[in-house]
Amino acid sequence: NESLIGKNVLTWLDFNQSEISNLLAQAQYLKENPHSKSLAGKTLAMVFEKSSTRTRVSFEVGMVQLGGHALYLNSRDIQIGRGETIADTAKVLSGYVDAIMFRTTSHEKLKELADHASVPVINGLCDIYHPCQALADVFTILEEKGRLCGVKLVYIGDGNNVAHSLMIIAAMMGMEFVIVTPEGYEPDEGIVEKSKKIAEQHNGSVTLENEPSKAVVDADVIYTDVWTSMGQEEEFDDRYEAFQDYQVNEKLISKADNNVTFLHCLPAHRGEEVTAPVIDGKHSKVFTQAENRMHVQKAVLQAVMGFQ
Ligand code: CP
Ligand code: NVA
Repeated sequence: NESLIGKNVLTWLDFNQSEISNLLAQAQYLKENPHSKSLAGKTLAMVFEKSSTRTRVSFEVGMVQLGGHALYLNSRDIQIGRGETIADTAKVLSGYVDAIMFRTTSHEKLKELADHASVPVINGLCDIYHPCQALADVFTILEEKGRLCGVKLVYIGDGNNVAHSLMIIAAMMGMEFVIVTPEGYEPDEGIVEKSKKIAEQHNGSVTLENEPSKAVVDADVIYTDVWTSMGQEEEFDDRYEAFQDYQVNEKLISKADNNVTFLHCLPAHRGEEVTAPVIDGKHSKVFTQAENRMHVQKAVLQAVMGFQ
């Protein structure tokens, strides 16, 4: 992936299928060979405007395993929290570090950081995308099913950041992607249109549904995410009601393929979007999926920083 040196990873819409395939292959190699000095002396700044367990730890440990170093910068502690601009922060950090990972409340802020940084910027989650999560998700599906093309992936729940990135990458990898949401919680129309076009070019499909029990028939993978994302806390009651019929439980799982895999980006809320018997049961691969975040992100870090 020579061509990816210096490139920002804001959304998979900016990438093609062979670039994604190369990242997945390199992640597989790194999962088998975790330690190297390929990023010796390189530093990653990780700026967080929201909470994180997986993203923070997987990026930091990933950098250490590659011989580099990562800095955790909570926006409350750095001068952004006191009003220093994103543009100035981008220019300053670019003078010190080799890449910046940013978890932020808006894609506009992410683009602003990327526009003013002279080092690559990686999206660690924003309001509309979560690309690192989606890369780990398809990596996990490939491990489980041995292929991506033609695999039926059914996402049930909120048409949110996780859903958008998953839809884009699934379309690019030729998967049969179905998203099931209550009315009013559909994914962004523009992203759906783009994903449908990408799917057409790769023998995949993107379909919107409202009825979970119909959608999961023959599903190879069932995926869900929280009903109330970070920053939407005041909508909790409305969402809790709207999503009642969209819970992934044993009854729903039993309608899918016998070998169906259950995935969730985590953190999970047992008794809301998923029941305990499902997420803690035999179909669930959520902890492998969480571990895979680190392997795929190491491949991304190597690709955008360049390595020996
Ligand atoms: N899935 C995910 O991004 O988890 P964190 O919020 O813990 O980073
Ligand atoms: N949709 C969730 C994902 C958390 C990893 C959120 O944005 O809070």
